Amino acid sequence: MLTTDPCILVIFGASGDLTSRKLIPAMYEMHVLGQLHPSTVILGVSRTQKTDDGWRDELRAWVEKQAKGFDATKWVDFAKRLFYFAGDAVKSECYEPLQTRLAQMAEERGTRGNLLFFLSVAESLYEPIIERIDEAGLVVEGKRWCSIDPAAKSWQRIIVEKPFGHDSASASSLNRCLGRAFEEESIYRIDHYLGKELVQSMLVLRFANSIFEPIWNQQYIDHVQITAAETVTVGQRTAFYDQTGAIRDMIQSHLFQILAFVAMEPPSLYTPENVRQEKIKIIDAIAIPTADEVAAHCALGQFAAEGKDGALKEGAYHELAGVAPNSTTETYAAIKVHFDNWRWAGTPFYIRSGKKLAAKKTEVVVQFKPPAANLFRKVTGFGGEAPNRLVIEIAPKERFNLRFEVKVPGFGLRGANVDMQLDYADRFKADPVEAYGPLIVDAMRGDQTLFKHRIEVEGAWNAVMPFLDERSAVARAGIHANYACGSWGPKSADELLARDGRAWRNEA
Ligand SMILES: NC(=O)c1ccc[n+]([C@@H]2O[C@H](COP(=O)([O-])OP(=O)(O)OC[C@H]3O[C@@H](n4cnc5c(N)ncnc54)[C@H](OP(=O)(O)O)[C@@H]3O)[C@@H](O)[C@H]2O)c1
Repeated sequence: MLTTDPCILVIFGASGDLTSRKLIPAMYEMHVLGQLHPSTVILGVSRTQKTDDGWRDELRAWVEKQAKGFDATKWVDFAKRLFYFAGDAVKSECYEPLQTRLAQMAEERGTRGNLLFFLSVAESLYEPIIERIDEAGLVVEGKRWCSIDPAAKSWQRIIVEKPFGHDSASASSLNRCLGRAFEEESIYRIDHYLGKELVQSMLVLRFANSIFEPIWNQQYIDHVQITAAETVTVGQRTAFYDQTGAIRDMIQSHLFQILAFVAMEPPSLYTPENVRQEKIKIIDAIAIPTADEVAAHCALGQFAAEGKDGALKEGAYHELAGVAPNSTTETYAAIKVHFDNWRWAGTPFYIRSGKKLAAKKTEVVVQFKPPAANLFRKVTGFGGEAPNRLVIEIAPKERFNLRFEVKVPGFGLRGANVDMQLDYADRFKADPVEAYGPLIVDAMRGDQTLFKHRIEVEGAWNAVMPFLDERSAVARAGIHANYACGSWGPKSADELLARDGRAWRNEA
């Protein structure tokens, strides 16, 4: 079993939703699976006054609800790793007592000065907190490469949660701020989608087998669809969502990570540096639409109150409390992406995400081209319903589904599509753990493979900016209530593909 260094995980935003609902249950699961060093501890920091025991009691209920297979005895052990510090992390005066506490804990637990910071606070607090950490001198060995004896030196790393900025300019500003305090090797820009089994398995499917990679290019692949559909509405945080929208919330972040894994070139070796280099290159190869092309390359929408299950009592998106009545923020977005490179020239990637859609699913559809010559063109039953298709279901099910044509048994020749399916849960009898857990453990090990590089984040922003700024005005006109709740999105999304002679895979 791989082991991690002992460390103190310092979570800024200890009393928040992300910490309670995801991070602590994830760490509990890692504890149960023996993935945490016995000395590792977690220090939660936020302004509300609480005791260590008070915080533990609060978190127990969350862990019971969210983590797989709660066990009261294991909880008692895990709870001994949890400590709380009350302080305002944007204020300099917070850091002297915080440092004293950290030094004490390091001494008692033998964590060797290793610190892993996690920013689980509002985005506006990222830069002030990073600056305070730096000013307080908490980063003493971020530059692990210049240590005389790197193995024996302490490390200080930071995990930053999305959003990594709001646009290109704010992402560069955040990256510059991080870069002043930490080396790039110590910065872990987390995306929990990369913690999902089927996303990681995509690299293995492509690069550990010889049957896919030779045909994984524009010569054989007609197009790719990447979908993240949700049935839920925007939740309580309407004002936040109205500043964000589907492109920022899902496409620029999570779906571009999946896009990179589907489209990148094979790295020469599975190492963090090589994988990250290839992701940077593929994001950089995205062809950025001109202002005139934007409307034809996207479909944007807002859900209506009416839909297949009746009407939403809170109204359509633009009528929700907290949403500006004239808001043009998209609750649905579909964009068409082209790559300017040899592998993908001419093969479009269609990416969509939305709220209040017909089903909850995250998947990748790889549609192969029909055979160059159709020997069976005069025979019935061939060529229907998109054969030559690989569907990678990432959530809620974890499945690979390969569809191809076979002969129907019996006299004469008749074709039919068949599906060959691999269900991860059935095949491996493994219950997926919360995606944050393995990623945080990777950060404790110093493995950046599944974390984003500064250049990649900025590249992803540059690629979506035309769909977000004034260039998208035409696509945003008439956006109000342009799709029924419980549908697959606005008519314009179907037209986006229909113009190219294609259709979305709208199966639940
Ligand atoms: N929730 C999710 O599922 C989710 C998913 C993806 C990304 N994110 C991102 O993760 C971050 C946290 O989200 P969240 O939903 O957990 O937010 P949240 O529920 O509002 O929690 C924010 C936390 O920050 C603390 N805080 C605020 N000001 C502080 C200060 N000056 N010093 C120290 N602590 C301070 C708050 O506690 P006190 O009031 O006690 O200080 C609270 O613990 C956000 O950037 C969000 O966009 C969240």
